[in-house]
Amino acid sequence: MKIQILPSLLAADLGRLGEEIARVAAAGADALHLDVMDGHFVPNLSFAPDTSALCRRVLPEGFPINTHLMMTNPDAYGRRFAERGSTTVQFHLELRDTLNVRALAAELHGLGVRVGLALNPDTPAEVALPYLDCADEILCMTVFPGYGGQAFIPEVLPKIKALRAAAPALDIMVDGGVNAETAVQAAGAGANAFVAGSYLFRQADMGGAVADLRRRCEEAFATA
Ligand code: DX5
Ligand code: ZN
Repeated sequence: MKIQILPSLLAADLGRLGEEIARVAAAGADALHLDVMDGHFVPNLSFAPDTSALCRRVLPEGFPINTHLMMTNPDAYGRRFAERGSTTVQFHLELRDTLNVRALAAELHGLGVRVGLALNPDTPAEVALPYLDCADEILCMTVFPGYGGQAFIPEVLPKIKALRAAAPALDIMVDGGVNAETAVQAAGAGANAFVAGSYLFRQADMGGAVADLRRRCEEAFATA
């Protein structure tokens, strides 16, 4: 499986947003991770559909934008992100009692974007199993969403193992507290895609850090 490294724009210097977006592509990352927070699903607020359009304008043509909707009504916004250049839209399965997961996945697929289903650290793998057929990737949060810069929660590792066993060919992504050490733990459990915000954006040489992370994850994933 292809190992993917995704810098999270949440950790960028917002005073230089255009340059920071360009830095992600120049670093050889596989996609840009765009965190969207609504102040309800999580206590914080972050980016909007127009940020996706800005990323689209700055990034090279075809460079993937992986948009993580931390909001209670992703069905009202998924389309807007898809229309503004996002290439994957992820939404949370904690909403499954009030949200028609399959209908939203079908709508997004109809718009030509990939679909990611996200799980908070305390949401078990079993919640995702009935939906694996309508997802292109599963996002395992390794922190409680809302803020960058938190510590990786290793208790999520068995869930990654269980999901990898259930879905050998699916992209499994981790998000939260990812650095050179924790990424290796996640890769060893079967994750193949790695979101990193503060770890990558604080590097003077983001390209070197992306290459190093990729090499470590490839090694660890091969032995998973
Ligand atoms: C957390 C976000 C993450 C965040 C990760 O709510 O979903 O994508 O940017 O940041 P770090 O890598 O700093 O934990
Ligand atoms: Zn995220």
